[in-house]
Amino acid sequence: LELMPFVDAMPVPPSLLKATASHASLRIAMREIHAKVHRDVPATRMWSYGPEALGPVIEARSGHPMSVQWVNNLPVKHFLPIDHSLHGCGRDIPDVRTCVHVHGARVPTKDDGHPEDWFTPGNSRTSHYPLEQESATLWFHDHAMGINRLNHYAGLFGMFWLRDEQEDALHLPNGKYELPLVLYDRDFTTDGQLFYPTSGDPEHPWVSEFTADAILVNGKIRPYLEVEPRLYRFRTVVAANSRFFGLTLSTGASLVQIGSDQGLLSAAVEVPRLNIAPGERADLLIDFSKHAGEKIHLRTGALDILEFRVAARTGAPVASLPNNIRSIPRTPETAATVTRTITLNEYQDKAQNSMLMLLNRKHWHEPVTERPRLNSTEIWEFVNQTEDTHPMHLHLVRFQILDRRPFDTFQYLMQKEMRFQGPAEAPAPNEQGWKDIVHCPPGMVTRIIVKFEGYTGDYLYHCHILEHEANDMMRPFEVIA
Ligand code: C2O
Ligand code: CU
Repeated sequence: LELMPFVDAMPVPPSLLKATASHASLRIAMREIHAKVHRDVPATRMWSYGPEALGPVIEARSGHPMSVQWVNNLPVKHFLPIDHSLHGCGRDIPDVRTCVHVHGARVPTKDDGHPEDWFTPGNSRTSHYPLEQESATLWFHDHAMGINRLNHYAGLFGMFWLRDEQEDALHLPNGKYELPLVLYDRDFTTDGQLFYPTSGDPEHPWVSEFTADAILVNGKIRPYLEVEPRLYRFRTVVAANSRFFGLTLSTGASLVQIGSDQGLLSAAVEVPRLNIAPGERADLLIDFSKHAGEKIHLRTGALDILEFRVAARTGAPVASLPNNIRSIPRTPETAATVTRTITLNEYQDKAQNSMLMLLNRKHWHEPVTERPRLNSTEIWEFVNQTEDTHPMHLHLVRFQILDRRPFDTFQYLMQKEMRFQGPAEAPAPNEQGWKDIVHCPPGMVTRIIVKFEGYTGDYLYHCHILEHEANDMMRPFEVIA
């Protein structure tokens, strides 16, 4: 399927709320829609939190609690291939079930969109979000046990921007100069319908990961965006199931990153190539002021995915790049009272003749093994024995990346002995802010330091490659008093 690029304008979803009231509430319904992903592709069936392919952007303010009534108006039959052999996916369980997780929000466990807390079509769930945390580019997505990779592929995600006074004071580009960039990939059948790859085994259709042919930005395949010759702010999230993006600009200029998962960095960082994983966010500034009248492309790898069409000079005021943004104190290692080792493993399941992935060699449903104390600080070290980079995510908390260190995987497997093969590497400058996802490369021990602030109760951590998460790279943790 060869489609002409840059024939559709990049959609900008509506913003909801912009809450300033002391307590605001929203009602957001999930529904089946048919949307055009490209001029030359017939309308595609998908599921969304709004009338368009990309759901609304929720804009909220730190310290102003809000609630959302999430309504499931989906059909009762799923249109993507469910793997009934996966945990929580038995044939006795309703096909279509949803729950909504606001990724990166610090919320009580009952409002966290726990995977087993799903609800079915015709039902709704109201979640309360205290929002006692700093400004950040958050997002929301489906998290229903065993099928969230399918619900997500169908289109159930949207952005959630949390603002505060510290951010206001920077006078960053706003209004029409502040835009979401939601990046993902999809495969389509010849008649323009979503195609989700399967293993070929009807009893066990799960696949471990995939990269799809078409790249979408905000719901359109390779769109264009008309911009003015000035500074823009792009709130970027990778909403792909398993594809990583390696973003560059066709001008050869670096991307300027001012924020990561959990808010602003301490200073703007020039990133020649931004390697961004599923679930991760990057707050980017792009300055078009020297490119009036030009076309500039945003790329992943060698593929141009978005065309910026810069208007001729208008004499608009030039916004300037902030230098120092805020101070982010580094959490000292000595603050940690517990260190936990989490192994990342891949197995060949002989009986099923397929693969599965585990954390600490344990399945999701096995008893909780991680029980941090409320307000305590811990170091978690992810020992990656596989050949993939896994973007690991913890609910509830924000953390800092300490370092990554190569180790002898064979020695570790055979002798249970940790033998390092080089010095520890500090995180890149754009990884030195507050994070909720960390890239764990193969053959490395990746260490994070995390304070368990907020609430006691049941939470979870998992790989954000949604196929890995489903089988079974997801484990509970419990914050105890
Ligand atoms: Cu986007 Cu459990 O996460
Ligand atoms: Cu993974």
